Amino acid sequence: MKNQLFILCLACFVASCQKTQESNFKDEALSIIPEPVNIDLKPGYFTIRNNTAIYWEGEGLEAVAQYFNTRIEPAMGFSLSIKKGTGRGINLTLLDIEDELLGDEGYRLTVTPRNIEIVANQGNGVFYGIQTMLQMLPAEIKSNSLKKDVEWKIRSAEILDKPRFKWRGLMLDVSRHFFTKEEVKQYIDQLSEYKMNIFHWHLTDDQGWRIEIQNLPLLTEKGAWRAKRVGQWWTRTPRQDGEPADYGGYYSHDDIREIVQYAKDRFVEIVPEIDIPGHALAAIVAYPEISCTQTVTDINVGNPFYRIDENTMCAGNDLTFDYLDKIFTEVAMLFPFEYVHIGGDEVYKGFWQRCPKCRARMKNEGLSDTYELQSFFIKRVETILQAKNRKLIGWDEILEGGLAPSATVMSWRGMAGGIEAAKAGHEVIMTPNNHTYLDLYQGEPSVEPDTYSMCRLTDSYHFEPVPDGIDADLILGGQGNLWTESVPHFRHAEYMTWPRGWALAEVFWTPAERKNWTHFVKKTEDHFIRADFGGINYARSMYNAIITPFYDENSPMQIKLDTEIDGLDIFYTFDNTHPDLYSPRYEHVLSIPKDATWLKVITYRDEEPVGKMIRLRIDELKKRR
Ligand code: ACM
Ligand code: ZN
Repeated sequence: MKNQLFILCLACFVASCQKTQESNFKDEALSIIPEPVNIDLKPGYFTIRNNTAIYWEGEGLEAVAQYFNTRIEPAMGFSLSIKKGTGRGINLTLLDIEDELLGDEGYRLTVTPRNIEIVANQGNGVFYGIQTMLQMLPAEIKSNSLKKDVEWKIRSAEILDKPRFKWRGLMLDVSRHFFTKEEVKQYIDQLSEYKMNIFHWHLTDDQGWRIEIQNLPLLTEKGAWRAKRVGQWWTRTPRQDGEPADYGGYYSHDDIREIVQYAKDRFVEIVPEIDIPGHALAAIVAYPEISCTQTVTDINVGNPFYRIDENTMCAGNDLTFDYLDKIFTEVAMLFPFEYVHIGGDEVYKGFWQRCPKCRARMKNEGLSDTYELQSFFIKRVETILQAKNRKLIGWDEILEGGLAPSATVMSWRGMAGGIEAAKAGHEVIMTPNNHTYLDLYQGEPSVEPDTYSMCRLTDSYHFEPVPDGIDADLILGGQGNLWTESVPHFRHAEYMTWPRGWALAEVFWTPAERKNWTHFVKKTEDHFIRADFGGINYARSMYNAIITPFYDENSPMQIKLDTEIDGLDIFYTFDNTHPDLYSPRYEHVLSIPKDATWLKVITYRDEEPVGKMIRLRIDELKKRR
């Protein structure tokens, strides 16, 4: 009896220990971006050691296992043995019988102290399970050098996960500034780690043609090079007589094949963009015969030129379409993805209006205005692409004058174009600039590198791609777009992309009801640490104060201070001294003391400064009305 009582007590004790252990685990949420659909934490850990093996079963998974090794080897200092089949260790398995719950891209990740198992219907699901597992490892795993004394532990858990949208992307503009093949690969690497599956490669624009077209060699011989400039975009001086055009570059066919394969190995599709008929100055410099005036001009360096230098291809000249056929023949040969982006945005139509060939085209085709001429142009390109088995995507301007029958619309001037296209039964990709444009300011402009407008981390995080009343099946998803007028190098591309790209990754992957801003901010801070280990740049702009002029009826300007994230204190001065923890703390709207010339503001958390010191002239603030 005594013994039985002892055993009963022991059992109770063990059970209660397990319970507290479990509830402690529950408090300690994982930091996975994008947030998985469901996480069940369990007690215990799996530890990766140099004798841990990876087993794989299913087509393509050996390569996924090898990818995992490339991700852990630098920091762990060893790689794991890879074996076909199943066994004790890490198991990657494709299901023989499809699990409908997981769909095309989902996975189940089960971690116990003895084993890790990732199962999926397809290889991409296993790849995403690997990304989750990597984010469950200590942050040091991102390091490019050996990290001794780290226990490579992964929390026991049962995770079920799949994406909300099938189109989860980032766009990189390589025309305004050139990014090397290795940098493009790094960008693809980085987006794929957050389960994004689309890289939209903006290859051509007024400032450079970046894709080799062997049948039209001048596109890169002339079109890929401009004079080197720094300084603010649109205030630059054009290339001077005799000055070399030696800034730029392009991707050869071999480069492109290599990058396409690199992306494929990460389950990323590449959408090439050839921006026509506008944004085509680089092509027109190379081949002036495809413009309306056929005037020889120069590649733009960031000087004002719009409506002055012709950057629109002639819509009346059949030669334009002959050249486009040559271009898209090589594009389709190089890029296996079913979609090709043809731009179509911001077409200046002034030269068309004055061009005899364009006017004749309008007359012969019965087109009533230049919007319809634009529509004619896009439809003709659609026919070219269809002959090459490719689907056309264009920016939302392609709606003007009539949408091409099978076009997919990328909505950037807000959501309206996407809504109109979806109502007409077209596929849509939502990239409204106020939520997804990564070239915009992400915080107080006076402490950010020059750009324009505003898209904060909160704006990206709170983006909802499916408008009310629209068939969700037609919204393929969305992407963040990084235009690079003001992005002169790759470190700054990273700065502009992260953390807003993480927010968008969660928007496009996670069910809307699973998103949580407070938890996302905590995860973002954890991922800052990971990025630090990986030498990846990012912006800490979410820590900076938000300063807004405030006008009450009839009263002079007052100032409202705010923060983007919770838990920060704001300190300020009007007396030209630097504020700190002992300065006035912001409580409510501020009146400006007489003769004050500067407002200075800084944020603190737990008595430590976290935001940048912001210094604003009162008269400049008045202009912000
Ligand atoms: C665009 O931003 N012009 C598509
Ligand atoms: Zn013309």
